[in-house]
Amino acid sequence: MTRVLVSGATGRLGAPICAAVAAADDLVLAGRVARSLGGGDGFPDLAAAIADTRAEVVIDVTRPDAAEAHCLTAIAAGVPLVLGTTGMAVEGAARVDAAARAAGVPVLSCPNFAITAVLMMRFAVEAARVLPDAAIVEEHHVAKVDAPSGTAKRTADLIEAAAGARPPISSLRLPGVVANQSVVFGAPAQTLEIRNVTTSVEAFVPGALLAARRVGGLAGGLHVGLELVLD
Ligand SMILES: NC(=O)c1ccc[n+]([C@@H]2O[C@H](COP(=O)([O-])OP(=O)(O)OC[C@H]3O[C@@H](n4cnc5c(N)ncnc54)[C@H](OP(=O)(O)O)[C@@H]3O)[C@@H](O)[C@H]2O)c1
Repeated sequence: MTRVLVSGATGRLGAPICAAVAAADDLVLAGRVARSLGGGDGFPDLAAAIADTRAEVVIDVTRPDAAEAHCLTAIAAGVPLVLGTTGMAVEGAARVDAAARAAGVPVLSCPNFAITAVLMMRFAVEAARVLPDAAIVEEHHVAKVDAPSGTAKRTADLIEAAAGARPPISSLRLPGVVANQSVVFGAPAQTLEIRNVTTSVEAFVPGALLAARRVGGLAGGLHVGLELVLD
């Protein structure tokens, strides 16, 4: 049984992750972290929560401005962390990687926990090798803090590595949307669209639990992408 601490536990994504961890046969919900929590299994502060709960893995789904500090807190405590929070600055990611390597603690950053999104990125890389002219359109709910999305930036990174050119990203924020992304490829007289659609945050929960189960098997350092533990 792996003891999992969920940081961002009261959020749109954190709450269903807590429920799924609690329901899983092989995981224990060691505690819940959010600034508004306190008492019982709830903590307002991640460092205190790790110390009190003897957590073996942290899942962080909070805010971009808290991501680096939370990663560094888990690393200092020697606890592997799954980062579902998107929007951490590139400089912050470099500092997290350096600290994680030095401490020998794995951090797995997953810009998207949905299996269909991971496959969308994989198929986009395959297409980009043949069709280098591409564009990304990402659509999210209006409360999303960061833009472009972490998934769009990750997809652009992968396509740039495969095709040598970085695709432009368009970001839409609309009521009625959860999280969708299209990658569109163009060539004379033909286009190809690879589209991932999620209709509820439930789409992200199985991937978050999979990452929590497997992050401990990775080497110390910052790793990016659920695909690293998918196959
Ligand atoms: N990887 C993926 O597949 C995926 C999917 C969806 C969303 N996300 C990302 O996950 C993150 C959370 O999204 P959401 O929609 O669940 O947000 P949300 O509903 O606003 O929830 C944020 C949670 O984090 C807590 N929080 C915020 N700042 C904190 C801090 N400094 N310390 C401790 N807790 C803090 C909030 O509680 P308090 O305000 O009480 O602290 C709340 O529990 C975002 O970065 C989003 O982009 C990732």
